[in-house]
Amino acid sequence: MIKQEKMKISSQREIASQIFELSLEGELVNEMKQPGQFVHLRISKSIEPLLRRPISIAEIDHTNKRFTMIYRADGKGTRILSHKKAGETIDVLGPLGNGFPIERKKGEKALVVGGGIGVPPLYELSKQLVKQGVEVFHVLGHETASKVFYMDEFSRLGKTYVATVDGSLGTKGFVTDVLEQEDLSFDCLYSCGPMPMLKALENKYPAIEGYISLEKRMGCGIGACFACVCHLADDPSGTKYRKVCSDGPVFKIGEVII
Ligand code: FES
Repeated sequence: MIKQEKMKISSQREIASQIFELSLEGELVNEMKQPGQFVHLRISKSIEPLLRRPISIAEIDHTNKRFTMIYRADGKGTRILSHKKAGETIDVLGPLGNGFPIERKKGEKALVVGGGIGVPPLYELSKQLVKQGVEVFHVLGHETASKVFYMDEFSRLGKTYVATVDGSLGTKGFVTDVLEQEDLSFDCLYSCGPMPMLKALENKYPAIEGYISLEKRMGCGIGACFACVCHLADDPSGTKYRKVCSDGPVFKIGEVII
């Protein structure tokens, strides 16, 4: 169930250049089940920035009623957010959207591919897959080494490859370059990141069962404003659509036009 709550900041730290890890605690965490869902944060009570900001859930800790987000402080709202300290509160609406389906058989293999600030929701996903006995491989793409985060955390869950555009860490290039080199075999693909990366994966693996999480500009976050629509792939009339915030953000590969 979607709830709104003033949640307390339990910690905040910069984990890579302009990348912040923020943990909040409160009752709302009880509602979080599926990896890949997101929350909408009201960052400031003052006039600007008025809109809530959608941020994905990176880790859920039901025992301590705490969840963690990882975000990039590159806009006015997220820069204000990055200055908040433990003990302060934030108005949170969530959990929102439909996340990754994770019902898999023990012993299956999953390829988990993330790009930039699309990487965080894949952490909780991977944890839940591993808990079910799924073997996970991660391929994570970033601009440069100073932007890379959670390599140890991902590596503890499964084999983890990294690509950086400038070659400062791991393979030089994109996640697709790692996939060309490694020729991994897997039963299911999960991905979140920039549209060109998702498109490349869709083209590379047209026949595989896969799920992608889309990043779209959002308004309301609850299906009311139509700011986030994308069109269905299997619709010659071009009139059928899905809302990323409430129907997604996770879709089956090939379901919507990206
Ligand atoms: Fe308003 Fe999706 S953000 S409908």
